[in-house]
Amino acid sequence: MANKAFTLTDPESGRTSELPVVEGTLGTPGLDIRKLNGEMDVFTYDPAFTATCSCESRITYIDGANGVLLYRGYPVDQLAEKSSFLEVAYLLLYGELPDQGQLDEFVNAITRHTMLNESLTKFFDGFHYDAHPMAMLTGIVGSLSAFYHDTTDIRDPEHREIFARRMIAKMPTIAAAAYKHSVGQPKMYPSNDLDYTSNFLRMLFAVPAERYEVDPIAAKALDVLFILHADHEQNASTSTVRLAGSTGCNPYAAIASGIAALWGPAHGGANEAVLTMLNQIGDVSQVPKFIEKAKDKNDPFRLMGFGHRVYKNFDPRATIIRGYCHQVLEHMGMENHPLFELAMELERIALEDDYFKERKLYPNVDFYSGIIYQALGIPVNMFTPMFAIARTVGWAAHWCEMQNDPGMRIGRPRQIYTGSPKRDYAPIDKR
Ligand code: SDX
Repeated sequence: MANKAFTLTDPESGRTSELPVVEGTLGTPGLDIRKLNGEMDVFTYDPAFTATCSCESRITYIDGANGVLLYRGYPVDQLAEKSSFLEVAYLLLYGELPDQGQLDEFVNAITRHTMLNESLTKFFDGFHYDAHPMAMLTGIVGSLSAFYHDTTDIRDPEHREIFARRMIAKMPTIAAAAYKHSVGQPKMYPSNDLDYTSNFLRMLFAVPAERYEVDPIAAKALDVLFILHADHEQNASTSTVRLAGSTGCNPYAAIASGIAALWGPAHGGANEAVLTMLNQIGDVSQVPKFIEKAKDKNDPFRLMGFGHRVYKNFDPRATIIRGYCHQVLEHMGMENHPLFELAMELERIALEDDYFKERKLYPNVDFYSGIIYQALGIPVNMFTPMFAIARTVGWAAHWCEMQNDPGMRIGRPRQIYTGSPKRDYAPIDKR
């Protein structure tokens, strides 16, 4: 669309502004409004940025109407079936699938960065046993820059690469250590002879007192879940990482801001909220009552795991995870898992209800992931840390992409001011 532009006209003054159309490779084009304020003395207004592109990116593409998700152009269902989480991490970070030598070097580097600085492990002792693991993740990751002065020159490509590899490598160790702290068990060191997800499961569940055998079916299911959660364009936590990173803060601080944003139940906290909701519903007979609560504007209850800002069709990740659910539950001998049966019945009833159909509210990635995590024996308050482990790859890839952008500037949205006009201070006896 060479040089296509929209013309905006001020109905009062007749002034006009040409808004160039910015075309991507795929998807909806955007209007470049950067000159608008200067030419027309107006801002655009888009609370929650529902129709605003904050950047150009080559990492992930989502087609919400058709339920399409591509990582560097590869459909996520093909990657889930044929790739591995670390190979997908390489793809998201470097833009291309690795050859065998590149993959071996990357996996080896990640494996050898999984340990934490021994002083850092002492930070966990400052948390009460009942601290939420996401609180610990936010604090510990935010402290990492205190240990790595040698790699926080954000202008140095080598420093950026070391940060990304270090962050991806250490997140499972930090998450497992947070869980161990919450149950009062000794933290397990990583084992370099295990693959990424097997290593995480061992650090999560093993105790020094006995041998621990990783269940390969569990490790494979987790690897697929991590692939599906690895990135998702400009979602709330990734946008938070980009905005924080645009100030030039160190990358660990930017990732810590992403962890904090992910924690919310409207975002990554939804997988934990889905299990809480299913346990609250308790029985299939209660489903109609809770569906009515979800539709009631005066009731804050929402059907957690349903709806999405972008997908107005099935979330492709939910479809894949739903299939895996059956496999994992069967393997665990839990095919008649009451929560899974309840989830399937809830999905069936919701998808027949006009309220959900009219609003295109379909199950999202969080609806089924919690059930698999529960079947794998992962405690509910560790569900969002699982999401954080996987999304660390996306956060790191977007942070690196932004730092590589010569046009990067500090993010600074404006507002429509609706407060009091200028007024003078009144002495207290005159108020
Ligand atoms: C993730 O952005 C991403 O990519 C996120 C994510 C990623 O990979 O990074 O995909 C991960 O965060 C998935 C979403 C997980 N969240 C949940 O499952 C929480 C439950 N879902 C809702 O909170 C909600 O659907 C959102 C937050 C996901 C989306 O909210 P929107 O786009 O702002 O939609 P909305 O709140 O404006 O809702 C539109 C309408 C409203 O009704 P009306 O005012 O039109 O009458 O739909 C209703 C809402 O009340 N609605 C729901 C609902 N979700 C929306 N009603 C009942 N239950 C729900 N879950």
